[in-house]
Amino acid sequence: MLRAIYPGSFDPVTFGHLDIIERSSSLVDELIVGVLNNNAKCPLFSVEERVRMLEEVTKSIPNVRIIPFEGLLADFAKAMDARMIIRGLRAITDFEYELQMAQTNHKLSPQLETAFLTTGLAYSYLSSSIVKEVAAFGGDISQFVPEIIIEKIQEKISKRRV
Ligand code: COA
Repeated sequence: MLRAIYPGSFDPVTFGHLDIIERSSSLVDELIVGVLNNNAKCPLFSVEERVRMLEEVTKSIPNVRIIPFEGLLADFAKAMDARMIIRGLRAITDFEYELQMAQTNHKLSPQLETAFLTTGLAYSYLSSSIVKEVAAFGGDISQFVPEIIIEKIQEKISKRRV
């Protein structure tokens, strides 16, 4: 059984992440989306909210589970009994950091392999921060995130303005 982990902050999940989740889940028996509980990044959404949003937008994919984690990714992979990490490469600028991460994780846990999927061209420019910035200035984010996420972002932003 091949179990893989797709880790990230997902603050919030975008169509770019969903593209990677859909494609990678068809390559493995089980895909665990690991949601990093990292307050250093000052997330807009709590880890519980990010987990719930991911559960909602992936509910039609049967072999995907959403699990929060803290600490080292290599330790989380071990605890989940996962042999593979999935990462998306959006552009050449992602490569250096991804290579460093993959090599560090392999050093920490030699049985752990990282597989890279190239992000769909339509999403190669996308990031969660860009989505939040466009939304904060009242821009249309419907091309970037699913409908249900638009509502959640707008709710958060309007609460912050009060
Ligand atoms: N489509 C759209 N956006 C994407 C994307 C895709 N396919 N892939 C990445 N992004 C965006 C993300 O939304 C994120 O945007 P943001 O910075 O505006 O929030 C940005 O690109 C960076 O994403 P990513 O590289 O996945 O960073 P992350 O913070 O979401 O996740 C971890 C990084 C969780 C994988 C990494 O920090 C980690 O493993 N941490 C655990 C600690 C650890 O083990 N450290 C040692 C590892 S060497």
